[in-house]
Amino acid sequence: MGFERISLTARLAAWMRQFSDIPFAAEVARRLHARETFEALLREHDMEPEDLLWYAPVFEGRYRAVERAIRESGAAEVLELASGLSLRGLAMTADPTLTYVESDLPELTEEKAALVAELRRDMALPDHGNLHLAAADALDLAQLRAAAAPLRPGQPAAIVSEGLLPYLLPDEVKTLAGNVRELLAELGGVWITPDFALTSDVGDVSERQRRFRAVIAAATERRMHTSTFADEGEVHAFLRGLGLRATVRRVADEPLHLVSPERLGLSRETVEAVVRRLRVWIVTLDAGAR
Ligand SMILES: C[S@@+](CC[C@H](N)C(=O)[O-])C[C@H]1O[C@@H](n2cnc3c(N)ncnc32)[C@H](O)[C@@H]1O
Repeated sequence: MGFERISLTARLAAWMRQFSDIPFAAEVARRLHARETFEALLREHDMEPEDLLWYAPVFEGRYRAVERAIRESGAAEVLELASGLSLRGLAMTADPTLTYVESDLPELTEEKAALVAELRRDMALPDHGNLHLAAADALDLAQLRAAAAPLRPGQPAAIVSEGLLPYLLPDEVKTLAGNVRELLAELGGVWITPDFALTSDVGDVSERQRRFRAVIAAATERRMHTSTFADEGEVHAFLRGLGLRATVRRVADEPLHLVSPERLGLSRETVEAVVRRLRVWIVTLDAGAR
């Protein structure tokens, strides 16, 4: 299946987030030597930083929109799948009333455990014992159930996934959504994801985006966006078929303050073009389907 190669994209995301004011983002990029990964990618593909950096607001906006949705869900129990190196759990568990499980593939989780320990030590971060790092393949329900073990029973959960679906094949997306459905049935709560991509958004790409995807495809040995949906209606139909229902929130309708555009000197048009495509899906069990 080769999911491990996708882990490289977590480094790329970490690199992109350093231009934001997301907690730990600058530290993470520095400590992971994400710059080396980034520069090697550029060299290999004969590209300039400007060819990729316009993407930074996507990573900042996605992180912030998901964070907002978690807070607004009111859930105090969070299980994040494919959480990569965004360390949202480390940031959010500064609140001791929250339990947060960051799960990802084993190798990445091991690397993250060392990174979190280093940050805790160097930044004197308090440890309330409410952040859990778990190795789990998001396509394996038994592994997800084990990862969810620290969540307090009887409390609604937020299951979060950000940036995984674009790398999955259609069958894998179905497996993932089915797994989340099972977890929602067992735990109660919502699935929060910005990941359902529409063909219209994904197809309408600039030359720069095409090149970005070529870089990612070469690095991960996976083509991005093989599992897109014709429109929002098709996402709803897909989820309904699995006993799920969704509401969609468009970031353009509820703007977020993003700092990376200014730090990178990006034009308003560039930023609007990427933000226009950002949506967060809030998915629950479809009571009528059960
Ligand atoms: C683009 S990164 C996103 C990471 C993080 N959510 C973020 O926004 O920075 C994709 C992540 O998916 C993880 N991944 C890939 N296949 C996976 C699988 N089958 N199960 C769990 N995680 C997976 C990778 O290790 C990587 O961390």
